[in-house]
Amino acid sequence: MKNSTPAETTEFEDFKKVCSIDSLKEYKGKRFFIDDIEVAVFKIDGEVYALSNICPHQHTALIYDGFIEDGCVVCPAHGWMFNLKTGRMPADSKGLDSYPAKVIDGNVFIKVIKKELNW
Ligand code: FES
Repeated sequence: MKNSTPAETTEFEDFKKVCSIDSLKEYKGKRFFIDDIEVAVFKIDGEVYALSNICPHQHTALIYDGFIEDGCVVCPAHGWMFNLKTGRMPADSKGLDSYPAKVIDGNVFIKVIKKELNW
C-alpha cells in the first residue's frame, strides 16, 4: 500500500495523533487509517486539513494523491474538486467528509466521526 500509515493510538479529547507536522510535506497529501476510516491529510501553508480519502465519484481511495488548486484537492482519477476546508464540491453541497485537525506540540491530531448506517 503506497504512502499509508496507521495512526498512533494517542487520544486527546477524541482526537487521534497521526504524525508530526514536520513529516507532512507542503501541498502533498498523506493517507492514514483512523478508527478504520481512511483519511487524506494535507499541509497547505502550514495549515492541516483532513478529508475522507474515498472519492464519492467511483469510490477510489486516491484523494491523498490529488493535487491542490484554488483551495481544493483535485481527485487524480477524473478531476472532481473538493474544498480542503469543507470537503464540498464547488457549487454543490455534496462532497467528502471533512474532519477537525489541530497541531499540538508539533504533532497532528485528527478527530474522525464515524457514520452509522441506519437500515
Ligand atoms: S473517482 Fe474521483 S473523480 Fe472519479
